[in-house]
Amino acid sequence: MAALNSSLSCFAKMDDVLFDAWTTMLEERTGMHLPKERRSFLETSLALRMREIGVQDYASYYQHLQSEKKGEHEWLTLVDRLTVHETRFFRHQPSLDLLEKVILPRLFDDEPERKQLQVWSAGCSTGEEAYTLCMMMNQFLKNSSFNNCYIAVTGTDISIPALVTARKAIYEHNKVRHVPEQYLDYYFNEQCDGRYQVTDSLRKRVCFVQFNIIEMKKTRLESMDIIFCQNVLIYFNRDRRKKLSTN
Ligand SMILES: C[S@@+](CC[C@H](N)C(=O)[O-])C[C@H]1O[C@@H](n2cnc3c(N)ncnc32)[C@H](O)[C@@H]1O
Repeated sequence: MAALNSSLSCFAKMDDVLFDAWTTMLEERTGMHLPKERRSFLETSLALRMREIGVQDYASYYQHLQSEKKGEHEWLTLVDRLTVHETRFFRHQPSLDLLEKVILPRLFDDEPERKQLQVWSAGCSTGEEAYTLCMMMNQFLKNSSFNNCYIAVTGTDISIPALVTARKAIYEHNKVRHVPEQYLDYYFNEQCDGRYQVTDSLRKRVCFVQFNIIEMKKTRLESMDIIFCQNVLIYFNRDRRKKLSTN
């Protein structure tokens, strides 16, 4: 880390005016809130990218991002660098228990003949949450009398590289360690290099689309039966969180 910091030290510290300009832009475009204590995170992340593309200072990089075509393209890379993609299969068991034991039974009690179940994993990162939901719902239907219902899961994220990984659905061995054995056997194929790929039949039910959650008003929420949005709004400020949850 010390070596990294010294190799980035050619970039001057960001002054307060620039820090405000950067954090305002990030907040407006992504919802991400960066308090003053995270100034060095912002400086380091920007400096790493600036070194890669040969930009000399934070102000020029800021201007570059305002320019139409080039700026838009660069923005896609930067946003991926600044967002946290940490995720895992079966990440939060209490939510999954709620899904299995309360939400799904209630939805089918209300509408036993339903033909479709639409689920949205908002801020899906590299796909683990969307596939977890699909596996769980498939298992629920297999064990019930509602097996004429089609499950469709939509995973969305602001980061294009994360979505590319999600669509490939290939995971290292250590990434599938939280998948219960019966699910691993049924929903994954082990590849010759030791990685695991989600089976085609499960992948067919999950689609991934880029979507910025702060544009929630553009979606037709009423077409969704269940929305999972975990560990995404924690990076937003309180007002923004409130606005989104009352949308
Ligand atoms: C920590 S991950 C959470 C992944 C998954 N939901 C989970 O709980 O395991 C947060 C994800 O939210 C995405 N994200 C952050 N801001 C976003 C925004 N404005 N719109 C859509 N996705 C966003 C990030 O790219 C990242 O992949």
